[in-house]
Amino acid sequence: MCSSVDLRGPSSTPKAAPGPVQDIGEVYLEEHRELVLEEIRRIVREGSPGDDRAYRLMLDYPLRRAKGLRPALCIAVCRALGGEFEEVLPSAAVVEMYHNAFLIHDDIEDGSLTRRGGPALHRTHGIPAAVNCGDGLLALTLGPLLGNTDRLGLGRALRILDIYARAVLESFEGQAQELSWIDEGTWQLTDADYESMVRRKTCSYSFVAPGLVGAAVARAEPSVEALLVSFLESLGLAFQIQDDVLNLEEGRADYGKELAGDLWEGKRTLMLLHALRSAPEADREEALRILRKPRPTAGSSDVGLADLLREMVDERVIDEAARAAMLGYLDRRAAPPGEKTEGDVLFLRRLIDGHGGIEHARAVARRHAASAEVGWQRLAEVLADSVHTRFIAWLKDYVVQRTW
Ligand code: IPE
Ligand code: MG
Ligand code: MG
Repeated sequence: MCSSVDLRGPSSTPKAAPGPVQDIGEVYLEEHRELVLEEIRRIVREGSPGDDRAYRLMLDYPLRRAKGLRPALCIAVCRALGGEFEEVLPSAAVVEMYHNAFLIHDDIEDGSLTRRGGPALHRTHGIPAAVNCGDGLLALTLGPLLGNTDRLGLGRALRILDIYARAVLESFEGQAQELSWIDEGTWQLTDADYESMVRRKTCSYSFVAPGLVGAAVARAEPSVEALLVSFLESLGLAFQIQDDVLNLEEGRADYGKELAGDLWEGKRTLMLLHALRSAPEADREEALRILRKPRPTAGSSDVGLADLLREMVDERVIDEAARAAMLGYLDRRAAPPGEKTEGDVLFLRRLIDGHGGIEHARAVARRHAASAEVGWQRLAEVLADSVHTRFIAWLKDYVVQRTW
């Protein structure tokens, strides 16, 4: 790790000489994450009438191990364009609050077990409290956005509100698209269908909006905004595909989500769509039969136990062989009829491997990363060199090389 970067000072004068490119990005993320967390704590405290338990729950996901990519991007774009840290911080905290609220709701929508290395919020506190907690986090974002009118003036405050209003709605549309594919059992999908869903589900609120908000605070010209949009869309696509690939990689103790959770959840990923397209008729039929089955609901079967075994391997309490033996035993016992089993998920995993699904997805991710590179070259022409500019440059490699 290189020593810390200058976060609040003039954008052209980093405190330390830059170390290797990778280290600069990690330090930048870590230090901004702390500053943004401090701001989120302040916003939650301001909303709370006292040390209220319901408000404290809002900090559960934010305090778990996370990258803090979205607010760091928002701040970096603002400062790379000459904007002030204090002016952008509340809006950067807002994007992280949206993200955490979406994750709480998303984990319920997807029936996910694990988030950021721990059980999903609805599994520890129940669905009603988790839904309400997400709603509360969303409600608390209105204060800082309103506060922007004093901080930044009406023009910039309304512009930021407009950017978030669109992004939040697009994210809803992307989620709705994915949920309806699952609900209707739709698998006849092209890579372009997947990308159109991801543009709305991920690119909009996680990449384009943070960048545009940073640019709005810095009073950037529309021509710069256009360069940002095309760069960040490509970056977001590459990021989401890498996210899907990581979900299938064994032995990642730092990943934080359930291994193969996307297969249990029946997610439409490039890997699985490619395997379904390439597989012989009989295998495709078998895969579709499996994919029609819901995942076992936590508590009604051995899902919790499978989760626990994974955690025990990650913590080196047992080894992979012991886990496989125990899973085999669980599978041989009567699984509730009509629900996916470990064996089913293994079949899908082998189908993906047998048809080069991961290689296919990585190749598509590389194409988007290459588009991001082209976009970056254009954008870099209008950004002065600074630690913030270098962080954005680091991001375009990081999104496809990251391991969590
Ligand atoms: C989450 O998408 C997107 C939003 C929260 C809007 P996914 O469902 O694909 O992401 P993970 O795998 O749960 O993180
Ligand atoms: Mg999810
Ligand atoms: Mg989801």
